[in-house]
Amino acid sequence: MIPATMPIKLTTKTPASPLTKTDLLIIFGKKGRKIKLPKGVRIPANAIESFAGKEREVWITDALKGAAKRVLLLGLGKGRAISGELFRRTAAMAVKTAEQTGCRSASVWIDLSLGHRAAGFGQALAEGALMGSYRLSDFKSRAQPAALKRISVYGDRAFNAGVRRGEAIGAANILARRLQDTPANRMRPRDLVREARNLAGASARISILVHDEKAMARLKMGSLLSVSRGSAEPAYLIHLVYKPSKKARGKICLVGKGLTFDSGGISLKSSAKMHEMKYDMSGGAAVLGVFQALAALRPDIEVHGLVPTSENLPDGLANKPGDVVKACNGLIIEVLNTDAEGRLILADALAYAAKKIKPDAMIDLATLTGAVVVALGHELSGVMGNNRALLDELVASGEATGEQVWPLPILEYHKQDMQGSVGDLRNISSPETGAGSCTAGAFLSYFVDDIPWAHIDIAGSAWGAGDRDYQGGSVGTGVGVRLLVDYLENCQGG
Ligand code: BES
Ligand code: ZN
Ligand code: ZN
Repeated sequence: MIPATMPIKLTTKTPASPLTKTDLLIIFGKKGRKIKLPKGVRIPANAIESFAGKEREVWITDALKGAAKRVLLLGLGKGRAISGELFRRTAAMAVKTAEQTGCRSASVWIDLSLGHRAAGFGQALAEGALMGSYRLSDFKSRAQPAALKRISVYGDRAFNAGVRRGEAIGAANILARRLQDTPANRMRPRDLVREARNLAGASARISILVHDEKAMARLKMGSLLSVSRGSAEPAYLIHLVYKPSKKARGKICLVGKGLTFDSGGISLKSSAKMHEMKYDMSGGAAVLGVFQALAALRPDIEVHGLVPTSENLPDGLANKPGDVVKACNGLIIEVLNTDAEGRLILADALAYAAKKIKPDAMIDLATLTGAVVVALGHELSGVMGNNRALLDELVASGEATGEQVWPLPILEYHKQDMQGSVGDLRNISSPETGAGSCTAGAFLSYFVDDIPWAHIDIAGSAWGAGDRDYQGGSVGTGVGVRLLVDYLENCQGG
């Protein structure tokens, strides 16, 4: 079993309710504003005087009187409209400080006169606190339990409603990260299936259908099945469905690349960073994370989640460069490079979605190309597709959540370049073309019919991101969960 770190328990109370005993009282302050403390709490005068409320300023002091042992003052700076991102980061800093000082419980008391989009702040606070509490579930024989177990938030109704939303979204992000970070021998295709079944089992609104290799053979998914032939682990196509209790405003399909390990196959990768290829299921992890959030948030939209999952290994039956395979929409693909396997499994999943699910829009997330890391680095995902309005909606959700996506083109020229000479298509472009992320997107475009579709290349953003307090470093980011939850809640459907 995978050691799952217990998420912090969040409870909400009103600012007027008496402060109950706590190890750490957390107070946010703004520049130029004297901090307010809840009734009965006293701290040394010099702490209040010295704390200027500057952005990222941290003051921790013992309390002189009251229900809290210690008080943590955190600065939000002087901006009139403090951003959600700053609040998220500051909340993560608070959790980190609580952890470092060995606090088991903490209370956040909100000075409501700080104002501004209270629900949005509550959400950012809970997201930041939960995401900031995530630790790489380690496999050390002596696990170190986290100190901080519970946080009480003293906010008004709007703020606390935001906290509840942020808690669901933060927990979903943590789920995605745990799936990502778990080593590939503990997170095989069958393990992703188990995780998906657990999600469906925990919610009456979510159902699941898992296609095994036999079923996929019946569906004529020769492209997907060619990838798993090189591995002893069987592939699956996970199909989750979330149905709202009310009439749905639309039907959206999410597709996540679920390569639990990508060695490159016969076109073997170099060994230097090969261990990072456990992250090649990050798209699938994000889709599962979104479903956990859907169960809690219950938006009135029907959502399908497809996760084609496989390993890419160079065993005796593996794809060989030059082999031809046939996808379920009838197109024949020349596999010129077995390391371009993500598009092979996505091809069948997208064609299945277009034919069997017929959604109003579909969005795939995939760690698809090294080229997108060169183009956009680790702070952005690349987005491309066949529908401008859909891309605009995703860009807007990226800005709202801080999981930014940047548009890249798919031109007729890129599509032409994916035409095959032996088969209909080839799975890599010619070396002189460049634009590896665009040509990968162009390849996928042959499998989406006329459904509005967006492809998000998360090869850069899925792990190795810069420090944002609540994420960063060589571990997974759970990217896509917050982005897609925001998109699903705001999109107008078909
Ligand atoms: N999973 C990789 C893409 C990748 C590479 C993600 C590095 C993150 C970091 C994908 O399956 C792959 O190997 N793509 C090839 C495509 C090429 C053979 C056309 C790549 O990007 O090199
Ligand atoms: Zn590959
Ligand atoms: Zn891959």
